[in-house]
Amino acid sequence: MLNLHLLVASYFDNLALNSTLVVNLSLQSKVEIKKNQAVRKIIIAGNWKMHKTQAESLEFVEKFKSEIENTHEAREIVLCTPFTSLTVMSKNLHGSRIQLGAQNIHWEDQGAYTGEISGVMLTEIGVSYVIVGHSERRQYFGETDQTVNLRLKSAQKHGIIPILCVGETKEQRDEGATEKIIINQLQQDLVDIDQSNLVIAYEPIWAIGTGDTCESYEANRVIGIIRQQLDNKNVSIQYGGSVKPNNIDEIMAQPEIDGALVGGASLEPASLARIANYY
Ligand code: PGA
Repeated sequence: MLNLHLLVASYFDNLALNSTLVVNLSLQSKVEIKKNQAVRKIIIAGNWKMHKTQAESLEFVEKFKSEIENTHEAREIVLCTPFTSLTVMSKNLHGSRIQLGAQNIHWEDQGAYTGEISGVMLTEIGVSYVIVGHSERRQYFGETDQTVNLRLKSAQKHGIIPILCVGETKEQRDEGATEKIIINQLQQDLVDIDQSNLVIAYEPIWAIGTGDTCESYEANRVIGIIRQQLDNKNVSIQYGGSVKPNNIDEIMAQPEIDGALVGGASLEPASLARIANYY
């Protein structure tokens, strides 16, 4: 009997570990994994916001596909494009490893809701992720925790994985209210939400689009607090806010952080590819 006890820090790339993973191998190929933390998917998602025409979207994908040929297969890569690019992207991404994401979803399947898009419409196109409750929607378009909750339910009803965004403003952080704000958002947003079909992105508002990244250990701390609030500890929790090629390695080295939601740096193929190919 060959018994190898391997202490592994990054044995499976899709395992986010906060403690040592002990792998016990025998000649019978029996693999026993003992760990304090279960498997959580790593998800690198680009949020293009209101950027790129259809032609520009296709141009991006053509370059991006070759840049991620060697990206670890366990890493999920998602592109959340404007609604207008979803159809061409869906055709172009068919058969590739890249998942398609939308940036919003309405809670009704159809009706008199000018300017809104329903889950029925998104699933027909092949959308598998949707961003819900992004701070820009909350700040500029009147999104509330109640409507965020309805949108999350709608995504889940249609089998689309919602990426729920939570985060505090600079003023709230300066007042020492970060934890209170985030816990409050989660309590309201997650009422009757299935935590087995959910991704959360911690996005401190003051770090979005500012180049002012939250220190990775602080993002890790807040994400740990978010995880404590959840019934399902295996929910993937991303960090978002000025994620760049030059800080992704440090961010992903943090044990609680399961990926990134990337805005500005997702607009260039080489930049997003470097983020997906973090060390
Ligand atoms: P940023 O945006 O990477 O440009 O800061 C992140 C986001 O808003 O999701």
